[in-house]
Amino acid sequence: MTRWSESDVGFRPLRVDDLPLLYDWLGREHVRRWWGELGSYEEAVEEYLAAIEGRDPADVYRIVVGEDAVGLVQTYILADYPEYAALVDAGEGVAGLDLLLGEASLTGSGLGTYVIRTFVSQVVFTRPETRACVADPDVRNHASIRAFEKAGFRRVRDYHDPDDGELHALVRVERP
Ligand SMILES: CC(C)(COP(=O)(O)OP(=O)(O)OC[C@H]1O[C@@H](n2cnc3c(N)ncnc32)[C@H](O)[C@@H]1OP(=O)(O)O)[C@@H](O)C(=O)NCCC(=O)NCCS
Repeated sequence: MTRWSESDVGFRPLRVDDLPLLYDWLGREHVRRWWGELGSYEEAVEEYLAAIEGRDPADVYRIVVGEDAVGLVQTYILADYPEYAALVDAGEGVAGLDLLLGEASLTGSGLGTYVIRTFVSQVVFTRPETRACVADPDVRNHASIRAFEKAGFRRVRDYHDPDDGELHALVRVERP
């Protein structure tokens, strides 16, 4: 397994010129399977542009390995999304995290685990009011659940998401 380190992996705020590549990733089989319905390019642009321009409070980053963008990782305060907060019922001061590795060739090499662990400590918990972080992989997404567990999250419970009709595993890590 590759040993990833800060000298080769980083996070940069998503930019407008990342959007075509992001849309390409969202359409790839290994991502589309778990990331939800792929809408039109215009819909994806509107969703991520809103975050880039600060109209949506999520903080969205591209994952870089060396000079190359290889994926997306985002965090948000659950309280900013009351419907979702009510659904997962995780309490106050909790942040959410989502990620994808766009390059299928990079999956299964420990990169996801490294990104989760590093992003949580370097980005998510830099907000002093954040006391825990959660994520919600589909229960069939074993690689994702395993990556979160290897990064220190524990599976708290499973819940049904009426949005996609699927069962999701709520995974959670407390501020150290
Ligand atoms: C989910 C994702 C971020 C995980 O990152 P990754 O770099 O592939 O994962 P890692 O290599 O760090 O760890 C994966 C672990 O799952 C295991 N795994 C992989 N496929 C598996 C499967 N089908 N069943 C059980 N375990 C599996 C691996 O063996 C590894 O565990 P190990 O180190 O104990 O052997 C990445 O695969 C990805 O972006 N997938 C597409 C989008 C996605 O699913 N995003 C998550 C939405 S919540």
